[in-house]
Amino acid sequence: MSDTDKELRVSKIRDGTVIDHVTAGQALNVLAILGIDGSGGESVSVGMNVPSDKLGLKDVVKVEGRELSQSEVDVLSLIAPEATINIIREFDVIEKNRVERTDSVTGILVCPNHNCITNADEPVRTEFAVLDDGVRCSYCGTMVREGDVAEHIDTRGSGETDL
Ligand code: CTP
Ligand code: ZN
Repeated sequence: MSDTDKELRVSKIRDGTVIDHVTAGQALNVLAILGIDGSGGESVSVGMNVPSDKLGLKDVVKVEGRELSQSEVDVLSLIAPEATINIIREFDVIEKNRVERTDSVTGILVCPNHNCITNADEPVRTEFAVLDDGVRCSYCGTMVREGDVAEHIDTRGSGETDL
């Protein structure tokens, strides 16, 4: 077996997005951010606790035929700050970007405060300010601590209300 064969744990994809260098243990949360639960029919490969030179262990998520929205990348930066987003076309990496921490994230996360306007039947998209130790709802001020962010990912899908 060549070195390449040994390294390749998850097959290469033809067209789509590879989210690489994901913090080990966060792959399922990455899928939640993308609104992927298998019911949409997407081809998805997941590597968990794969050896990585840079991180020791890492997770990898490969999604065929799909690119990420800015909102998805912003929330991703909270749970996988070292992640790289690789856009794949015809098997080549045509673009590679590191995720960047942003000042605020919109959509995707839900506010834990049941009385928050974002949880009422109103066409309001969630918005959280990103602080050093977590995120704070821009509407009601409720804090979600850094380690709890993954528990507040909208599992209904994109987390975006149709306006
Ligand atoms: N990849 C893939 N399918 C392709 C091309 C690349 O799944 N057709 C994956 C690779 O397996 C790797 C990631 O996309 O996980 C980035 O590919 P590449 O830039 O070739 O790898 P590295 O140089 O190791 O990336 P980095 O420098 O970011 O670690
Ligand atoms: Zn709120």
